[in-house]
Amino acid sequence: MSASSLLRRVSLVCGLALAAVAAPASAAETPAPPHQKWSFDGAFGQFDQASLQRGFVVYDHVCSTCHGMRSLTYNDLSGIGMSQKAITDLAHSKQFPGPADEDGQPTTRPGTPDDHFKSPFASDAAAAAMMGGVAPPDQSRLALIKPHGADWLYAFLTGYRMPPPPGAPMVPGKFYNEWADGHLIGMPPPLVDGGVTFPDGTKATVEQQARDVSTFLVWASDPHRNARHHIGKGVVLYLIVLLLLAFAWKKKIWKRLDGN
Ligand code: HEC
Repeated sequence: MSASSLLRRVSLVCGLALAAVAAPASAAETPAPPHQKWSFDGAFGQFDQASLQRGFVVYDHVCSTCHGMRSLTYNDLSGIGMSQKAITDLAHSKQFPGPADEDGQPTTRPGTPDDHFKSPFASDAAAAAMMGGVAPPDQSRLALIKPHGADWLYAFLTGYRMPPPPGAPMVPGKFYNEWADGHLIGMPPPLVDGGVTFPDGTKATVEQQARDVSTFLVWASDPHRNARHHIGKGVVLYLIVLLLLAFAWKKKIWKRLDGN
């Protein structure tokens, strides 16, 4: 092997080793958001329905003015315990583009429970034009795009600092948030104390709204988790009963054999 090819190999191995060491180091630069206690934590966790319903109020009154949520239909809200009547009334209160009338003019029609959540903007391009260049991302999967989804959402929604700390970068049209990439985000702080009224009388602090809407967004990214965890519990119970039966059986058979 020539000296130069040996050198190439050594430098390649060193480079790979360096990359392996550097990768975890750069991941460690973004600290994990503080862990919150969530009703849906763990293999058998179940969403707290009251929190989901409050979270929907926050989504519907605040977030949905800018963010769409295309993967959900109004009917899916039965999964957070909304009655069929409430769902129909809610869908009915939204206006969707209808067929053109006989003069070819655009019309609107009230929504139905089968409609997907109404998007605030006609297209991403229209959204970006309205929002200073960046379209608000669809919220259907928001809880999944970041590691520690719910913890990060909560930290992010409660992470605005006004005024920003001394020495923080200032960019017109951007807001300082401790948990945004580069600490700057084009979304104005969406939550204010008392910004919504919860029908169940819970006090609508920023923290409470952040907690409830994060719960709602995690549910929205996986609306069938409660049902799945329910089935999971049933399966585990069934296996335990089966195990006990097998054990009793084994004892019985061995007793007979021992007796002989
Ligand atoms: C006034 C419009 C507006 C409202 C209201 C709004 N957002 Fe946003 N949101 C935006 C825009 C614009 C962006 C993209 C900003 C960017 O990338 O700089 C965004 C981005 C986000 C992101 C992604 C951040 C990231 O770092 O990727 C999350 C999460 C988010 N919004 C959650 C919410 C939640 C939850 C609500 C309701 C409580 C809400 N938003 C209300 C406009 C809005």
